[in-house]
Amino acid sequence: MRVNTETVMFRTNTCGELRLADAGKSVTLAGWVQRVRKMGGMVFVDLRDRYGITQLVFNESSDPELCGNANRLGREYVIQVTGTVSERSNKNQKIATGEIEILVASMNIINAADTPPFTIEDDTDGGDDLRMKYRYLDLRRQCVRSNLELRHKMVMEIRNFLDKLNFMEVETPILINSTPEGARDFVVPSRMNPGQFYALPQSPQILKQLLMVSGFDRYFQIAKCFRDEDLRADRQPEFTQIDCEMSFVEQEDILQIFEAMAKHLFKSILGIEMDEPFQRMTWQDAMKYYGSDKPDLRFDMHFVELMDVMKGCGFGVFDNAAYIGGICAKGAAVYTRKQIDALTEYVKRPQIGAKGMVYARVESDGSVKSSVDKFYSQDVLQKMKEAFGAEAGDLILILSGDDAMKTRKQLSELRLKVAEELGLRDKNQFKCLWVIDFPMYEWSDEENRLMAMHHPFTSPKPEDIPLLDTDPASVRANAYDMVINGIEVGGGSIRIHDSKLQATIFRILGFTPEQAQEKFGFLMNAFKFGAPPHGGLAFGLDRFVSIFAKLDSIRDCIAFPKNNSGRDVMLDAPGQLDPSQLDELCLKVDVKE
Ligand code: AMO
Repeated sequence: MRVNTETVMFRTNTCGELRLADAGKSVTLAGWVQRVRKMGGMVFVDLRDRYGITQLVFNESSDPELCGNANRLGREYVIQVTGTVSERSNKNQKIATGEIEILVASMNIINAADTPPFTIEDDTDGGDDLRMKYRYLDLRRQCVRSNLELRHKMVMEIRNFLDKLNFMEVETPILINSTPEGARDFVVPSRMNPGQFYALPQSPQILKQLLMVSGFDRYFQIAKCFRDEDLRADRQPEFTQIDCEMSFVEQEDILQIFEAMAKHLFKSILGIEMDEPFQRMTWQDAMKYYGSDKPDLRFDMHFVELMDVMKGCGFGVFDNAAYIGGICAKGAAVYTRKQIDALTEYVKRPQIGAKGMVYARVESDGSVKSSVDKFYSQDVLQKMKEAFGAEAGDLILILSGDDAMKTRKQLSELRLKVAEELGLRDKNQFKCLWVIDFPMYEWSDEENRLMAMHHPFTSPKPEDIPLLDTDPASVRANAYDMVINGIEVGGGSIRIHDSKLQATIFRILGFTPEQAQEKFGFLMNAFKFGAPPHGGLAFGLDRFVSIFAKLDSIRDCIAFPKNNSGRDVMLDAPGQLDPSQLDELCLKVDVKE
């Protein structure tokens, strides 16, 4: 990047832009001292800013005092230097400015710096906690900064892409009421309305639907969302959505437009051309073949059900199971007993909850050697092998259980673990998928009632509407998720725009008409004033960026993230309120040990 030298006098250039062609020019640079080295009668300083590193040279024989000052510079001092660009005799091909150096004529020490608590280098000696406490220093590291640069570029591309398609960015409020996205709300007490609370938006869902009623037929917003839920690598309590909504559309319109947006990002940011349409899979198939509504399809290893082949042969565990299914790991027969035991322990962990695992190796002569050989004849084992299409050298892993859905989810974890071990989850490979036809409802044991699988504003498939009263659990929704490499990057639905149908859905979800009116009356009323058919989706920006940046956690593409306990360790938030603030808000705190 070139700084405009006519308007900016503090520095003529950045630390990342000077090249051999600039040799002979007089320049002024400013930045942070990365490193100081003394060699013979020379002092070399690496000067760093956002754009790169430039080598400064101080020559003792031409200016001993200046050279002495340079030698006393500490790490992270902020300095300004003026000098001449010169060709380097010892070129550094690893950095863009590596062919030149600046022969410094004058230096201004702008600000001294304490020794930083960790080295400001990609390969730093700072642990996670320390880096988060001094996040402003961590952000000076190129590898961290580049994630934020990528995020910025993606946002710019998204804004331009949507703007060209007539999407209009509208900001919606942060102090609102509860939005039903399924997590707990973060709440804010209202001083002016004692005893009352705002809820921070879990998403702008209802507001964007109201914008459709207002006639803004293509809306988007880079929207902050807040959800008080347990944190994971792909979840933050405060995160950003690319939130979109459109009127006068059907599901297909939405899928086409946002698939085009994703492809545009792949092309413009990563230079990857995605010519093929994204694969589509029904939720039913995703669960049946991968045990997950967000299957990672960079590799296959789909489930094969073995009830017909393996039930009723005298192996009690399988004979009593409601589901028996397995995966075939190509070429993994080389797994040692120890490795297989480790996999068994993995699926038996309480978070996964399988009771055990059966394995079978296909030997080089085609015979099958399994951990349950005493219950199964080679004939049955061969049938099992055929069911997988397994070949010599393959390893078959089987789980069973008395709850088909639970067992599939366990098998899904096993599938991911094995793929990880086999190096099949390559971050440089991208596999995009639409999961469609989600069910409208899922049963909640906790609440003992049906819950909306997406949210209560999602419309049922028209052909399934007659089932709403008779068999609600089998009703499919016009809902869809975009999945990349096994991560749900976005999700949405076609909405209900009819107040009567919306009232029916609230009833099925267990709201009395009064409760529905109290909570969502404004939306149902709005639908009475001419609501267009509408639908949309929201992408998780943090997840999208982290996939593009090949990160393990979305934390690394957020400037100031929270840790796993939801704390900002740099700001030491959340914190306590002064008694006077509590008084003003009519709040009493009573923390139970
Ligand atoms: P949903 O709840 O599926 O849908 O959220 C949309 C996308 O937001 C991302 N996401 C998160 N990212 C980081 N941390 C979190 N805690 C988190 N929670 C969700 C995911 C997810 O796919 N209003 C609907 C969208 C719609 O129907 O238009 C909604 O919020 O990538």
